[in-house]
Amino acid sequence: MKVLGISGSLRRDSYNTTLLHNVPLELELWDGLKSIPPYDEDDDVEPAPPAVAEMRAAVAGADAILFATPEYNASVPGQLKNAIDWLSRPFATSVLRNKPVAVVGASTGAFGAVWAQAELRKVLATAGARVVEGDVAVGHAHERFDANGVLMDDNLLEQLHEVADALVTEASLREAVAA
Ligand SMILES: Cc1cc2nc3c(=O)[nH]c(=O)nc-3n(C[C@H](O)[C@H](O)[C@H](O)COP(=O)(O)O)c2cc1C
Repeated sequence: MKVLGISGSLRRDSYNTTLLHNVPLELELWDGLKSIPPYDEDDDVEPAPPAVAEMRAAVAGADAILFATPEYNASVPGQLKNAIDWLSRPFATSVLRNKPVAVVGASTGAFGAVWAQAELRKVLATAGARVVEGDVAVGHAHERFDANGVLMDDNLLEQLHEVADALVTEASLREAVAA
């Protein structure tokens, strides 16, 4: 099973990217977010801009996607929302349609990007993805990882396990239906 990890942060030492490294799955991290151009419906034609085509191919080739999102001003960072706008078209046949996805998040604030996670789930559901239940909200992220990037909170690690399990279960069900 191929699970793609997408961090919504472009920052080198991102807590969200670090969070993805703590997921008990063999994730393939996709790191092309910074190269995605701003969505322009005039450019959303075939062939798609190369970076967009590569992103769509990566998502199409994955059985499931795990997003880790920061929270910017109580919402999803613009660069991540922009990428999802590209992924969501063409609407009826987009690479997100029926794709099993899960959302976790980290922020340096107290609440662990819960608003951004909720908004990202709404956006993904609107695009037709199968959003699995469960969230992991890593608040005070600057205090939650050790020097090796290991999450130092057993409850959060347990929640991360549960979300990963739910995502794999959903992806397996979809594979069984498709077979
Ligand atoms: C533009 C901007 C807006 C932010 N807004 C919020 C916010 O609304 N809530 C919050 O908890 N943290 C907010 N933060 C702090 C982020 O949680 C913090 O920068 C976090 O480390 C970002 O995730 P990353 O480490 O994966 O890059 C904001 C940071 C930036 C740069």
